[in-house]
Amino acid sequence: MSLVITEQDLRYFVYSVKAASEYDFSDYSEKSLKRRLIKVLTDNNSDLKLMITRIKNDRMFLEKIVKEITVNTTELFRDPLVWQNLKYKILPVFQKNFKINIWHAGCSTGQEVYSMLILLNELGFLEKSKIIATDLNTDVLEISKKGVYKYRFNIGYLDNFDKVIRENPFNYEEHNDVPYEKYFSIDKTKDSLSFNWELKGNVIFRKHDLVKDGLLNYAKFDLIMCRNVIIYFNYELQNRIFEMFYENLFTGGCLVLGLHETIMGPVASKFEKRGQVYFKK
Ligand SMILES: C[S@@+](CC[C@H](N)C(=O)[O-])C[C@H]1O[C@@H](n2cnc3c(N)ncnc32)[C@H](O)[C@@H]1O
Repeated sequence: MSLVITEQDLRYFVYSVKAASEYDFSDYSEKSLKRRLIKVLTDNNSDLKLMITRIKNDRMFLEKIVKEITVNTTELFRDPLVWQNLKYKILPVFQKNFKINIWHAGCSTGQEVYSMLILLNELGFLEKSKIIATDLNTDVLEISKKGVYKYRFNIGYLDNFDKVIRENPFNYEEHNDVPYEKYFSIDKTKDSLSFNWELKGNVIFRKHDLVKDGLLNYAKFDLIMCRNVIIYFNYELQNRIFEMFYENLFTGGCLVLGLHETIMGPVASKFEKRGQVYFKK
């Protein structure tokens, strides 16, 4: 029998998590939160009442549920067109910068961060770049730090890598013969794809909750990557986060969103939109 979660159930879940912890899902999109809650209840073979009783009494269990309720899907060079745009049009804007500060907000298991590190290295910008990668979920941050992934789940990465690193969509004659081993090693017997350690020198991975923790206590940023994160938030929370990103960017700096994400509120006028990229005016 399929589980039914009413609006009241959802509010009770959100309220219980908030009362027992610092996590606040009040302004997450109801539709996707409801879908996730049904999935988590099914995976845990539980009903809502039982789950909430445990949430109230068992902090470890609460942390586990919070991690399961958020969506962590990601991949290397996800949406290659966006990365080609970053490579040829966006990152070159920072060519003359003495330093490039980048924030990956909601980095999940880190493939987006490794994509950026590879791109920066190919452009000769890695040495002068400082990257902070954050997420709410400490489990995904641990995976990010290790940079080791299941090969069989990530074969599609290689196609994306080819499109972004080897090919030039603006000049099909050009082919850059960059070997995969320059950035990662593949061990098919161990089913692993591991990023090279040298890449990680300029990255800090840190827990940060976009809802509660506010501005990053760090220098301002030239580039903020926040892709496929705010899609799970409601309109009010999205606007709060966009205001925060605006404050955290240098003038001329840019915010990159996911393919299905747009700034729609009053803060939109403070940015100039070019595709999925928003430049701070
Ligand atoms: C779908 S993944 C996106 C990963 C990557 N940016 C990409 O586009 O491939 C969304 C990530 O946002 C994180 N997240 C959700 N709510 C968050 C919050 N309030 N603060 C920080 N990260 C959050 C989740 O833990 C998850 O890792």
